[in-house]
Amino acid sequence: MFDRIAPVYDAMNRVMTAGLDLRWRRIAAESVVRPGDRVLDACCGTGDFAVAARRLGGTVTGLDFSPRMLERARRKLPQATWVEGDLLQLPFDAGSFDTATVGFGVRNVADLERSLAELRRVLGQEGRVAILEITQPRGLLAPFYRLWFDRIVPLLGKVLKGGEAYTYLPASVRRFPGPDELADLLRGAGFADVQYRTFAGGIVALHIGRVAS
Ligand SMILES: C[S@@+](CC[C@H](N)C(=O)[O-])C[C@H]1O[C@@H](n2cnc3c(N)ncnc32)[C@H](O)[C@@H]1O
Repeated sequence: MFDRIAPVYDAMNRVMTAGLDLRWRRIAAESVVRPGDRVLDACCGTGDFAVAARRLGGTVTGLDFSPRMLERARRKLPQATWVEGDLLQLPFDAGSFDTATVGFGVRNVADLERSLAELRRVLGQEGRVAILEITQPRGLLAPFYRLWFDRIVPLLGKVLKGGEAYTYLPASVRRFPGPDELADLLRGAGFADVQYRTFAGGIVALHIGRVAS
């Protein structure tokens, strides 16, 4: 599925978020990446999060299981290391990275807790994590969000070539835990000082944490 959407992925992101997605990734990267960090961007897709981490002086490894996504990422940022692999079974030794980022990726994995444990395993003792993910807003914005997500996004998916996978997006968001629950799962996976903030009226959440001592 991700191979199929690779050609339209960047365009869909810009349209769906009115270009705000680049800002969210920049803020997320600024929250955790320090110059000289060895950064793992898991579920890297076409590499936009990796680009943001590299701008901050990180040495970036991007990992994804979709070859077509990786092809695009490689073209965008030839200086990074790109690895085809599974977040649920990361092909790296324990403690290989200072920072791990995942942008709009953990919502898709078959075993969320295992993916968080894998991120924890490959981080060193001072490691930091940032997870950017779509979430479900509460309150006033909720009806607008449902209209946008349940009706307009799937429609865009139908009219854009290769975009049919977007018809599945609303369901994947609905079954994903809310921000408080995700924060608890991060704590359970061995992260401390877990905090989150939301963007765009609560539609997107950024969770950050550090490896618990
Ligand atoms: C919605 S895209 C996000 C891409 C990028 N991180 C971003 O910020 O735009 C989700 C990506 O996660 C990848 N992915 C999903 N499950 C994965 C897994 N278990 N291991 C590795 N990559 C995975 C998909 O191939 C896809 O490229």
